[in-house]
Order: sequence, then structure tokens, then C-alpha cells
Amino acid sequence: MLRIVQLITQFRSAVQLQETIPVTIRRLRVDDIDQVVAIEKEAFSPLWVSSSFKRDLNNKRANYLVACFDEEVSPEEILAEIDSDKPAQEENPRPPKLWARVLGRFGFSSKDGPGDVDDIFDIAGYVSVWYQGEEAHITEIAVKETLRGRGIGELLLIGSLKAAIEHGSKVMTLEARVSNFIAHRLYQKYNFKSVGIRKAYYSDNREDAVIMTTVPIDTPEYHTLFVGLQSTYQTRWGRMEIDEY
Ligand SMILES: CC(C)(COP(=O)(O)OP(=O)(O)OC[C@H]1O[C@@H](n2cnc3c(N)ncnc32)[C@H](O)[C@@H]1OP(=O)(O)O)[C@@H](O)C(=O)NCCC(=O)NCCS
Repeated sequence: MLRIVQLITQFRSAVQLQETIPVTIRRLRVDDIDQVVAIEKEAFSPLWVSSSFKRDLNNKRANYLVACFDEEVSPEEILAEIDSDKPAQEENPRPPKLWARVLGRFGFSSKDGPGDVDDIFDIAGYVSVWYQGEEAHITEIAVKETLRGRGIGELLLIGSLKAAIEHGSKVMTLEARVSNFIAHRLYQKYNFKSVGIRKAYYSDNREDAVIMTTVPIDTPEYHTLFVGLQSTYQTRWGRMEIDEY
């Protein structure tokens, strides 16, 4: 099993696109909810039941963060990055709008006309955390499927860990399907350990959940590890935009 995981990881590293996507982490706003629900549904069907995002927006025991495309990034910067690996194209009498081009780049249809409003999005992923005593519990984390593998999930995790540390939580916990090795790897990177199993936790296929918990996050040791991981992240992805948490 370990060998299979290693092979998949090597393959992934070889083919992974490393383009930076200009997202910023900030708190969920009411206008984001429809997009977040769509990402939630895509990620967690068939067990999907919409979370109470609206009700919990002002709940002090919950923290909802989103990865949002940065409107402050200059169109020239993004267009230059997007165009850098494309062959020369026919001259376009009317350059497509920025978002239409970003969407096209990531495999979405982009008609660039008045009828394409439904295609326009600015939320790439979200994370929801509940504070329970000394524990911060990740209830959900998900990235839009076409944008996965580009550091957005990790940035969301960093944002939620920062928030939990500031909140005074001592550990962060979560449950994940035993088969969700992508999520396990993300959490292991931030020193989550498997501490138990909830048998038949998921009702669609009665799959077990693994309970994962960080080592204490309010210690100098974790601080050093966390700062190091953020620095590595920044070197790799060239950004670390966390506006609010
Ligand atoms: C889990 C999830 C949020 C990760 O988000 P992401 O943006 O794709 O992840 P990132 O690109 O930030 O990758 C961060 C780390 O995750 C792990 N990872 C991500 N994609 C991986 C893949 N295809 N194979 C192996 N590990 C992977 C790696 O540890 C990676 O760090 P590395 O690049 O240094 O190896 C995303 O896959 C998702 O939305 N999945 C569906 C919902 C879900 O399962 N949520 C978790 C519930 S517990």
C-alpha cells in the first residue's frame, strides 16, 4: 500500500502544474454562500447536506474561511502569466474579460458575453472550523475540483490553523475517510496524527473515519514547525495572502 502511495505521489509531482493562482484567504461573507454550497456539494456528494453557513456566519464558536480570487491583482499580471505558455493566437478584436480568461485556463467554458454570468466565480475553496473547548475541529475543507493540486487547500489549512492558534485552541482535530489519502497527506504535513477510528462513520458506504489530531499547536515547537512550513509554502507558490482569519 505504501509503495502504491509513493508511486502515485511521484507521478503527481512529475505532472503537477505549478502555476500560482492568485487567491486570498478571508472570512466567509453572505454573498459567497451560494458558491461555497456548490463547492461543498461537488466535494461531498452523495452524502452532501448543506451546512448552515448563513446561520453560523456570526457564530463566535465557528470560523468559516474562503479562498477568494484576488481582485487587487492587476489584469496585466494575470494575463501575462496565463498567456506565457500559450502558442500565438489569432488576433482578438476584443480581448476577453479577465475572469473569462481565468476560467478558460482552468477548463471552464467562458463565452465572454452578457450570458456568461453563471460561469463567473471568485471562490476557489473553503474551510469550516468549530471551536469546542480547547479543540478546533475542522468540519469541512474543500477546493473546487478543477483547481485542486495548486496549493489552495494548504493555504486554507494554514489560515484555519492561524485562526485556531489566535483563538487559543490547543489542538486541531478532524475526521477523514480512511481512503482519503490526499487529505491524510495534507494533514500529516502539518503534524496531524491518526489517533483513532470511528467505525462505519460514513453512511453512503459505511466507510470508517480516521480521527486525526495535531500535536499541541500552542507550543514553541509547533510555532517553529508552522513558520517553517509557511516559509516553504511561500517559496514554492510565491504567495501567502491571508487577509482575515
Ligand atoms: C483535500 C483537498 C482540500 C486538498 O486541497 P488541494 O488544493 O488539492 O491541496 P494542495 O494543492 O494545497 O496540496 C496540499 C497537500 O495535500 C496533499 N495532496 C494534494 N493533492 C494530492 C495528490 N493528488 N496526491 C497526494 N497528495 C496530495 C499533499 O500533501 C500536498 O502537499 P505537497 O504538494 O507538498 O505534497 C482537496 O483535495 C479537496 O477538496 N478534496 C475533496 C474534499 C475532501 O476530501 N476534503 C477533506 C475531507 S477530510
